[in-house]
Amino acid sequence: MLAYRHAFHAGNHADVLKHSVLMACLAHLQQKPTPILVVDTHAGAGSYVPDGSLTRQKSEWHTGLGRLWGMRAEKMPALIRDYLAAMREGNSPDAAKPDLIAGSPLLLARRLRDKDGLRCCEAHPTDVPLLQATLAPFGRRAQIIQADGFEALRGWLPPASRRALVLMDPSYELKSDYPRALKSLREAIDRFATGCFVLWIPMIARHEVDRFLRQSMALPVASRLLVSLKVRSPLKDGLGLMGSHLVILNPPFGLRASLEEAMPWLVKQLGQDATARFDITQQEAGGPRPPRPVMPRNPRSRSTPPHRPA
Ligand SMILES: C[S@@+](CC[C@H](N)C(=O)[O-])C[C@H]1O[C@@H](n2cnc3c(N)ncnc32)[C@H](O)[C@@H]1O
Repeated sequence: MLAYRHAFHAGNHADVLKHSVLMACLAHLQQKPTPILVVDTHAGAGSYVPDGSLTRQKSEWHTGLGRLWGMRAEKMPALIRDYLAAMREGNSPDAAKPDLIAGSPLLLARRLRDKDGLRCCEAHPTDVPLLQATLAPFGRRAQIIQADGFEALRGWLPPASRRALVLMDPSYELKSDYPRALKSLREAIDRFATGCFVLWIPMIARHEVDRFLRQSMALPVASRLLVSLKVRSPLKDGLGLMGSHLVILNPPFGLRASLEEAMPWLVKQLGQDATARFDITQQEAGGPRPPRPVMPRNPRSRSTPPHRPA
């Protein structure tokens, strides 16, 4: 039985990075009129209430969305301005804090054009009905299955329109999620090498995450972009989420420039200590070897933290 519930983490610093990039990818891809198939392989509940019993327990949204909520749009980089505008939908315009925190499925569903489609996969039996309720207003354009996202992905590819955006956002609750994510992406690329794939990776002090990051950046596509946001140093015992990485395979043209504008600003807003920083690396096919990860190692850490720690 899966224990991870995204409600504990909704709207945190990692969600800010992930959702900003995701929305920017979709907006870039929608500049062309061709229909897009959007897949969210690990969808969660779709939306979260900050005062809900789980979300309130950790209130992680204070580390991310909460820091940006009251800011004026004209002071923000475009990538964050667009993200925040999307997050404010469904909230009252002058609310001092969010009443509703959108997850990736709701953010994506709201931006679908009539011709686009969304396919969501979620394995947790409690989150599936919540997701169904969140996406019900979008009708047949947004379809949900209760299944293993790593397995289901290949069945949706290649899309008839030959254009797709895939978010793979595992909980990494199981160690096997790392090799399974790579296998699933390899199969997906075999079927559809030109899709845009966004893979979320936790920044935690573990060697296997470093290796996984390098392997993800070596997947056989024409170009890859790695963006990392570190918000703080690890806790004394080496545990805890220090930040997050996103590997974007076949990133849309223009995404790197948007990130170069946004990331220094985001470090200032979301950084929790002096070690906060960002990194952006782009690689084209035939380019240099995948980079070393930006995450510092903690050689003293021998314990086994949860893979996606609170
Ligand atoms: C990080 S959360 C997703 C958050 C969501 N993408 C968002 O940004 O709002 C990961 C989700 O994957 C679900 N999950 C875990 N293993 C899965 C699997 N093999 N297939 C599909 N869903 C899975 C968990 O129940 C959890 O809801």
